[in-house]
Amino acid sequence: MSETGRNPIDFPMALLAELTHRCPLQCPYCSNPVELEQAGRELDTGTWLRVIEEAAELGALQIHFSGGEPTVRKDLEEMVARARDVGLYSNLITAGVLLDEDRVGRLVDSGLDHVQLSFQDSEATGAERIGGYPDAQKKKLRFAGWVRAAGLPLTLNLVVHRQNLDHLPQLIELAVELGAQRAEIAHVQYYGWAFRNRAALMPTREQLERATATVEEARERLKGRLVLDYVVPDYYARRPKSCMGGWGRRFLNVSPAGKVLPCHAAETITGLRFDSVTERSLADIWQHSEAFEIYRGTDWMPEPCRSCERREIDWGGCRCQAFAITGEAGATDPACALSPFHDQLVALAEADSGADCRDFVYRRFANVVRRNTPMPAK
Ligand code: SF4
Ligand code: FES
Repeated sequence: MSETGRNPIDFPMALLAELTHRCPLQCPYCSNPVELEQAGRELDTGTWLRVIEEAAELGALQIHFSGGEPTVRKDLEEMVARARDVGLYSNLITAGVLLDEDRVGRLVDSGLDHVQLSFQDSEATGAERIGGYPDAQKKKLRFAGWVRAAGLPLTLNLVVHRQNLDHLPQLIELAVELGAQRAEIAHVQYYGWAFRNRAALMPTREQLERATATVEEARERLKGRLVLDYVVPDYYARRPKSCMGGWGRRFLNVSPAGKVLPCHAAETITGLRFDSVTERSLADIWQHSEAFEIYRGTDWMPEPCRSCERREIDWGGCRCQAFAITGEAGATDPACALSPFHDQLVALAEADSGADCRDFVYRRFANVVRRNTPMPAK
C-alpha cells in the first residue's frame, strides 16, 4: 500500500477478450450487457492481434477468449496463435455447439491451452430450454469428447439457479464422466440479463444449503480426480466476494467493439466512460483510464468499508451489484451485512425465490419472453 491508500498497480493477471456478442444460445443470466453489440461494430482481426500483443507487453499471463460465442469468429485460430507466440496461456470459453472435430484440431495446432465448456443442465430438456437452443446437449457432449481426445484440459462451467440446482449431483457426475479436471459451479450473479430474470432464477435458501452440502461431499469424494470451484450467491451472503479480485487490480476486459472494462459487467454502471483500444494503448488505459482509477484501491471507499479490516480482502465487494441495488456504484456492496442496504437485498432474495415465475427473458438482440415453459424434471 502507498501512503495514499492506492495500491500499486503493476500488471493485470489476465485479459478477457470478448470477441463478439453473437451467440447461438440465449441464456437468461448471460453476463453480456443488455444492449448487445452488433457484429458490424466488432474489432477487426488486426486490432485484436495488436491488443493481444499489448496485453503480453503489459505483463498479463493469460488470455480468455470469450463472447458471446468466440468460435463464431473465423479468425479465432489466428488470435490463439498470436497468444501462443507472445507467451500467453490461452483459454477458450465456449458453449461448444458450433465446432466440428477439424476445428478443434486447428485450434490445438494454433496453440490453444485449455477449454471451458458451459452446461446449462444435466439433461437435454432442461439444458435446451434454459439455453434456448435445440440439440445443444448432444453437441456439447460430442465436443467435450473431441477436446479430451485432443489432450486439452477441460473445465465445465456450471451456472446454477433455482431451475437447475436440484440437478447439481448429476452435473458433478457429468463432469466426472467427461473427464474434466475442474468444474466451476457458480450461482448466478444478478446484473444485466440475470437482474431482469431474478424472479425466475433466484434459488431458495433450502436449495442453497443442499447445494453447498453437495459440493462439500463431492469435494471430499472426488479429491485428486476433480477440482470443484464454488461461487455462492451474494444475496444470501454475510460478506461479499472480492469481485474481480478488486476493481482494476487483476483483470481487464475488452468488449467486442474495443471498450476496455475493469469487469465484464461494468457497462451496467451507467455514467462510467470507457476508453477504447482504437484510441489508446492497453497500457495507457490500464494505468490511467478514469473508469479503472475511480474504484481502484481503497481511497474511494465510504464507511463502513473505509475503516473495515476486510477492505483489502474483498475491496468493498462488487461495484456492479452496489449500482444495481443502490444506484451508487461507490456504495458498499449490499451483500455485506454491514451495508445499510443488506436487509433490502435479503428481502429481495426471499421474495424472488418464492415467486411463481418460470418464464425467462431470453438474451437476444431483440428481447422476447417465452411463456408456459415447463420446469425441468427433478
Ligand atoms: Fe468488505 Fe466493506 Fe463489508 Fe468491510 S464493510 S466486509 S470492506 S464490504
Ligand atoms: Fe462488476 Fe462485480 S461484476 S465489479
